[in-house]
Amino acid sequence: MLHRPARRLLARTHVLHYPFWSNESLLNAFDSSASATRVAARISTGALDRDHSPNGDRMGYHWPTPGKEKSWRQQTYSTGFRKVEALQQGMAEMVPHAVPMPSDIRHADLVVNRSDHLKAKPRLDPIELKFGAVYTDHMLQVSWKEGPGWTGPSIDPLAPLTLHPCAQVLHYGSGCFEGMKAYKGKDQRLRLFRPDMNMERLSQSAARLTLPEFDKVELLECIKELVRLERDWVPAEEGFSLYIRPALIGTHPFLGLSPTREAMLFVVLSPVGPYFPSGLKPVKLFVETEVVRAYPGGVGDKKVGGNYAPTMLPQLRSAHRGCAQVLYVLQDGLPGGGLVGESGAMNVFFLLQENGMMELITPPLDGLILPGVTRDTVLAIARGFGNIKVSERNLRFDEIEHAAETGRLVEIFGTGTACAVQPITGLLKNDNTEITIPFDSEAAAHWLAKPPGMALAQPGSNEPFSLCGRLTRTLIDFQYGYVESPWSVPIDP
Ligand code: COI
Repeated sequence: MLHRPARRLLARTHVLHYPFWSNESLLNAFDSSASATRVAARISTGALDRDHSPNGDRMGYHWPTPGKEKSWRQQTYSTGFRKVEALQQGMAEMVPHAVPMPSDIRHADLVVNRSDHLKAKPRLDPIELKFGAVYTDHMLQVSWKEGPGWTGPSIDPLAPLTLHPCAQVLHYGSGCFEGMKAYKGKDQRLRLFRPDMNMERLSQSAARLTLPEFDKVELLECIKELVRLERDWVPAEEGFSLYIRPALIGTHPFLGLSPTREAMLFVVLSPVGPYFPSGLKPVKLFVETEVVRAYPGGVGDKKVGGNYAPTMLPQLRSAHRGCAQVLYVLQDGLPGGGLVGESGAMNVFFLLQENGMMELITPPLDGLILPGVTRDTVLAIARGFGNIKVSERNLRFDEIEHAAETGRLVEIFGTGTACAVQPITGLLKNDNTEITIPFDSEAAAHWLAKPPGMALAQPGSNEPFSLCGRLTRTLIDFQYGYVESPWSVPIDP
């Protein structure tokens, strides 16, 4: 049993550094050590430190070395468990400053259990291959518990999860997810597209739901491993890709409302074609003013399940009126009433023209809009085109109506990982009036047929105009690696 003064010291010192270790679990860990009193006393000197290694932040301790002020020692005591083990072996004598630490996700710990039953790959037909309906043979999973932290990770045959019926995600929606894609270019190489942005957004979503933090670099390395293992599932055809769906859920079986003490992160893969069966053919949106998707202070900018489930009813209603999705517009009378938001599955862009000048507008990242990776990429590409003013600004629906009435509404399109760039040809209002935006499919096809890199070049004076087509071609060139860019991350061995 740890001496009472040492218990008091520990209770005072660790909590600032180790939010995931409860006082009790830390004290219990140290109880098992013969030399714990001495270690506890040394911890109180505050030499505990953070290592900013290329693999992310890790906790450890500093070891006094003759001739050097201090050198970093972490390898032996990289996890709370290993530390306790070391203490049990009497090594605490040699440890000037050490504290149990929760472990993080580590690619080096990844275990691969291959499936014996590999499924047949689907036919690449844009209609037959429904988005998100076919899954590959394996999944990645990692578990987390308050105290020890992350354990695993492992790649296992795809299988149902076993969850306690009181798991928090099932009752309180404590779950967030990501959508990213792997592409196989004509050179047969595998590439991810700006995956660091997905890791960052997953981390932000998790933090908002008090789900555990994780090492973004290490998780990404594990995801790359999963994609490499499933490389034969990555379609080698433009317009097709392997959709990657990481999800992080609170699994603690507890009906009280409090941050989860257990969680699970898993990643599944699904070969996909176009999100909308219509492909690059335009869709119609229903202008939804009665249902609010996001409001200031809410979670509209996080990829949490709770943002999506309530959008299915309006989506169903819009489908009955011949629309593929809805466009959320804040109700008149509310603060911000009349402002355009997003569609729920896509960010939305409007191209207006005024006195011969084009302006591409999308609502700003003000907390109501999901910070889409494709959104950010389209903004950057369009800014690079040079001849279009690109604005992230608030836009009222009546501004769009007025632009349509005066012939200044040139294009509308949605963006998202799943749908890439989706032309929109109509906005149907509740009173059945409709704004129609002509979609020039020939002009779009002209740009889609451009050789790699050529969509970036300034258009010739005789070329037809299709921002949607030009952006789609440019995006494909980057995603499939036809044009080198730091956004495209090759993941071959
Ligand atoms: C994505 O674009 O990746 C999404 O998560 C949208 C989802 C509704 C399919």
